[in-house]
Amino acid sequence: MEWTSLNDLRESYLQFFADKGCLRHKSYPLIPQGDNSLLLIVAGMAPLKPYFTGQEVPPRKRMTTCQKCIRTGDIENVGKTARHGTFFEMLGNFSFGDYFKEEAIAWAWEYVTEVLKLPKDRLYVTVYQDDDEAEKIWHEKAGVPLDRITRMGKEDNFWEAGVDGPCGPCSEIYFDRGEKYGCGKPTCGVGCDCDRYMEFWNLVFTQFERHEDGTYTPLAQKNIDTGMGLERLAALMQGVDSIFDVDTVKAIRDKICEIAGCEYGKEYKKDVSIRVITDHIRSVTFMAGDGVLPSNEGRGYVMRRLLRRAVRHGKLLGINGLFLKDIVKTVVDCNKCEYNELEEKYDYIVKLLTNEEESFNQTIDRGMKLLDGMIEELDKKGEKVLAGEDCFKLSDTYGFPLDLTREILEEKGLTVDEEGFEKAMQVQRETARAARGDSKYMGADETVFHQIDKEVTTVFTGYDRFEDEGVIDYIATETALVDEAAQGEEVYIVSTSTPFYAESGGQAADTGVIEGDGFKAEVLDVQKVVGGKFAHKVKVTEGKLTRGAKAQFKVNRDQRLNTMRNHSCAHLLQAALRQVLGDHVHQAGQLVDSKRLRFDFSHFSAMTEEEILKVESIVNMWIMSGLDITMQEMPIAEAQKLGAMALFGEKYGETVRVVTMGSSDNAASIEFCGGTHLDNTAKIGLFKIVSESSVASGVRRIEAVTGYSVYELMEENSRRIADTAKILKVNNRSELVNRAQAVMAEIKALEKERDELQAQIASVKAGALAQSAVEVGAFKLITGKLEGTKPDALRKMADDMKANDDSVIVILAGIDGEKANIVCASGKAAVSGGAHSGKIVGKVAAVTGGKGGGRPESAMAGVADKSKIDEALAAAAGIVAEFVG
Ligand code: ALA
Repeated sequence: MEWTSLNDLRESYLQFFADKGCLRHKSYPLIPQGDNSLLLIVAGMAPLKPYFTGQEVPPRKRMTTCQKCIRTGDIENVGKTARHGTFFEMLGNFSFGDYFKEEAIAWAWEYVTEVLKLPKDRLYVTVYQDDDEAEKIWHEKAGVPLDRITRMGKEDNFWEAGVDGPCGPCSEIYFDRGEKYGCGKPTCGVGCDCDRYMEFWNLVFTQFERHEDGTYTPLAQKNIDTGMGLERLAALMQGVDSIFDVDTVKAIRDKICEIAGCEYGKEYKKDVSIRVITDHIRSVTFMAGDGVLPSNEGRGYVMRRLLRRAVRHGKLLGINGLFLKDIVKTVVDCNKCEYNELEEKYDYIVKLLTNEEESFNQTIDRGMKLLDGMIEELDKKGEKVLAGEDCFKLSDTYGFPLDLTREILEEKGLTVDEEGFEKAMQVQRETARAARGDSKYMGADETVFHQIDKEVTTVFTGYDRFEDEGVIDYIATETALVDEAAQGEEVYIVSTSTPFYAESGGQAADTGVIEGDGFKAEVLDVQKVVGGKFAHKVKVTEGKLTRGAKAQFKVNRDQRLNTMRNHSCAHLLQAALRQVLGDHVHQAGQLVDSKRLRFDFSHFSAMTEEEILKVESIVNMWIMSGLDITMQEMPIAEAQKLGAMALFGEKYGETVRVVTMGSSDNAASIEFCGGTHLDNTAKIGLFKIVSESSVASGVRRIEAVTGYSVYELMEENSRRIADTAKILKVNNRSELVNRAQAVMAEIKALEKERDELQAQIASVKAGALAQSAVEVGAFKLITGKLEGTKPDALRKMADDMKANDDSVIVILAGIDGEKANIVCASGKAAVSGGAHSGKIVGKVAAVTGGKGGGRPESAMAGVADKSKIDEALAAAAGIVAEFVG
């Protein structure tokens, strides 16, 4: 066997199986699509599940992929050993009711022994205990001696993942790495825990479907699912001890050592940190490239945990400041030949990860200090378990994921009160679960449309027309396929061709009518359903719908044109945003319908007014330049060569549609897009941004209008201006601003005047009240009730009166609408003589059922029952006497 680079190995495998007739498909994104049972893709077969069950028709009955995978089940061991990792690539070949055991085994053997040239005398295989057939093929066809074939039980040789889904018995190929890796025990052999016999290829004969209740039913077709870890294979071919020594992974490891100024393989503790960072940054870089955003739930939380754990291990290595950026670059450089999305989104990935790194950096030191303090406390008390609430506080306030805290504690021989933590986390967990939804394994529950032959698909003919002939091939209610639908009924029509656009890619569905001989149905909505069928939701408005009837399919033209304006303009908007803000801008979601366009994109701060204006003006310039818009179908590789913008984590087929605006050599925008578009940007009319806001961390949203809606907006604004001008009595609109300024200045002056008048009135009132002062001991008590006085004014009045006379105690009740308050202020001499405003006011207010208090000089209380204010004031003299009597 010959040293082969990881990238060459991948190529050799995919080419080998392409030569066997398999469709070679690019890795699917890490985010499962239409499958809520998984947070992240964990195996090559995971994105292909509907093909195994027969729920969907595969593009070809045999396929081969190298799939990005992330498994976090063993995250705590990553770093501690050289065997564990979270990110890996899985080489696979798959048959959906096509070839079976014989070919799968023969080809695996051929690839291993003839292409890789692994020596046969170091290879072993295992089969499922009852699988005579597999044993026979290995022995008779591949020529593996019987003493090198081991039968194993369900534990080892039956492959299934999760509670339900396609599964089956499997057969594994092992490589004997030699005695020096062995444990030396006499029982050592295939299946031993030690490092000598390494399993590297798993062939699954996917014949069953496991159900949630633990039962199995045979699948209609026999399938093949195989998986070989690329890094593991590379370790074997490169004759190295672990995946961390494989060329592309080692490059990352070396980069970390360079940054930290240390050497790998010298000190266990440092090696742990180096391995953690190597693995985790590989994972988060790929996740970012597929559109995962760090968050506190679901896969976003997985990403956050990985990133934060890496950052902390950076600190352990003594790295100061931000360091992920350089490592990310190495990850991208080593992998971009296969995963071009990493290069395309490079700026974005770096910005996103650095942003998260920065935000954790801001709290990690304070968090560490707090945790150190907690650990000291535990030591003092001789305890070993950190309270759940403490751990939760670290997580909630300082962003320490539980496993990070656990890991730090473990290093000191301590543990976490997991139960207490769980309790404190309950609320967050509930939210996360709600967000994840709880749909079935396939992510798509059985619907009435599953009853239609799965070969039936709908061809969309509406790219260049608004009307087409068609046939009402199927009629469905919510629960059954039917042959007819009467006037007034709401049903679904499925046809093999239609000019109606089904909601997808953020573009709203078309509406319109489907009519024929003696019937008419209004199309309310159009959705894509299982197997690429379009379901038109209709209401029968005339006559009777009959299955098989010919019909005219007529799309509402105005509505569609407006939608196209918004959709075409969204492409220009993305291009302009990238010009103004930078290449990290990528579409994160959109909604285009006939009324507006809403565009979400990655960006890390609010846009300034200037940036917004700039974007608006670039888009409008492109509109006015009348750029041609062309749509072309082409192989995905060609589209990528053109630099067409793709969506994050989108699963594209072999052929894609590409929408170009402007001449191809100097286009304003080139995007992958299946939506409908105008043929020239001029038809957009005009573009206006209505708002810019935040949707999530790192994601901004622009809402905008085009075409006729801009005109409507102008109209509305113009009407508002006219109305305002009328109210302000301005004849010439250019005078409006001056007039508004003058009015505001006048209001200000009037307010000032009013305040002065009120102060005068208050002092007159205060003077009058002072006349009615009664003597209590050596001091004077003034009481009064004032209607329409706000608390602030009330307090000021009392304070002023006390400032005028040292020996006075003032108690005023102020009524302000429904509410009422009582204040008390006592002059200096009165306070010295025993008066305490806080206590006095509390007692007076208590007469009304109210409460309050404060300082000796001045205090306030609320009134509960307004009808008791007179009674309270009457009691004031007695109360004051208790203090100064
Ligand atoms: N799906 C099988 C595995 O992951 C091939 O091992």
